[in-house]
Amino acid sequence: MSRRYAALMALVVIACELAPEVGPPLTERCVSEDSDTEASVDFDVQIHVGIIMPQCLPCHDPAGEDNTGFLVSGLDLTSVEGLRRGGSTVGADIVRPGDPCESGIIKKVSSGPPFGNRMPFDGPPFLDPTQLRLLADWIAEGAEP
Ligand code: HEC
Repeated sequence: MSRRYAALMALVVIACELAPEVGPPLTERCVSEDSDTEASVDFDVQIHVGIIMPQCLPCHDPAGEDNTGFLVSGLDLTSVEGLRRGGSTVGADIVRPGDPCESGIIKKVSSGPPFGNRMPFDGPPFLDPTQLRLLADWIAEGAEP
């Protein structure tokens, strides 16, 4: 192998390592249908304790130590009533029962939110696909408390 060829190969290897991370293909698409019509999502356990408490309440609890999410957007996520009231921008459109894809909360936790940042504000990590599906299914099923 000539020295020039070896140098060229080294360059190719470096260039490949420097290539930008293109990320997942653009197939992320919102689906409004309930993914499992046999089971219903339990708001308290699966949504509030499983998602909101660890990943949203740090900023959306009015009495929390860092309540920037509540201060900036007015969104109080300590209760299902607070969630349904929504924040200063989306208001009650935060949850449209039966229509997750048109619900403000789904748009804000998905990539490319219509305003501001994708939530959680300090992500990544963002909600994983299972959490996103649970939240969407809860809304698809009528968003019962
Ligand atoms: C690190 C702090 C932080 C965390 C954690 C966080 N948020 Fe937020 N949130 C904010 C801030 C700041 C805003 C206002 C700026 C914006 O909209 O991007 C906001 C705004 C919002 C809004 C818009 C409300 C409105 O009507 O203006 C929604 C909806 C929301 N957050 C949902 C969530 C959800 C759901 C989670 C958890 C998955 C979450 N947030 C986690 C800080 C946070």
